Amino acid sequence: MPEASTLPALSPNPVRGRLNSAFFALTAGYTDRRLAGHKRRILPGTGGVVAEIGAGNGPNLRYLPPGATVHAIEPNPYFHRRLARTAAVRGVDLTIHPVPGETIDLEDASVDAVICTWVLCSVHDPARVLREVRRILRPGGRFAFIEHVAAPPGTVRRVQRLVRRPWRWAFEGCRTDRDTAAAVRAAGFASVEITEFRFRSGFVPVRTQIAGVAVR
Ligand SMILES: C[S@@+](CC[C@H](N)C(=O)[O-])C[C@H]1O[C@@H](n2cnc3c(N)ncnc32)[C@H](O)[C@@H]1O
Repeated sequence: MPEASTLPALSPNPVRGRLNSAFFALTAGYTDRRLAGHKRRILPGTGGVVAEIGAGNGPNLRYLPPGATVHAIEPNPYFHRRLARTAAVRGVDLTIHPVPGETIDLEDASVDAVICTWVLCSVHDPARVLREVRRILRPGGRFAFIEHVAAPPGTVRRVQRLVRRPWRWAFEGCRTDRDTAAAVRAAGFASVEITEFRFRSGFVPVRTQIAGVAVR
């Protein structure tokens, strides 16, 4: 079971929480066109039980097989209404767990796959979330992720540094400068495969991204 909680209280701002959900709903088509190829490649296409950390409004549910069983670990209640609606439209059997990824209320080795997109940038403690991912995955289960990450030294990295405070405020804790590839590689998975890619858009701070699969 999860470690006893020593996390700071997670209390999404009512205004920014709603604005974030609306922002990601409005931009879903735009981001999906840029991420679809990576999502099709890494997200689980077969049945089984899936846990999604930070499911947001549910933009990944369309990539799962119809009838999939999904446990959404989503601590921000302002995403829940859109998330439930997306699941109903996609025919996904959804249970929402309003808990952070650092303390997931699922049993050890109870899911076949864990997925997350653009979440490890925002969690309070990425190493602890990754320990939870390994704990709930069955042996041989896959963790599929897409994350924006710190750019190498250069213009994008300078922009990431410049905007990091207002960005973190506006997007409820999102860091532009995390080395998530290193965090996943250090998390003790049996294998890790990561592809680096550019997210071609006007959102320069999230231009450098990774898509990967880690196997427990
Ligand atoms: C940028 S949004 C991405 C949402 C969705 N995955 C997507 O691709 O559109 C970040 C998500 O991470 C969630 N989140 C933030 N902190 C979290 C935590 N500690 N545990 C789990 N989810 C968290 C937020 O509530 C939000 O849904």
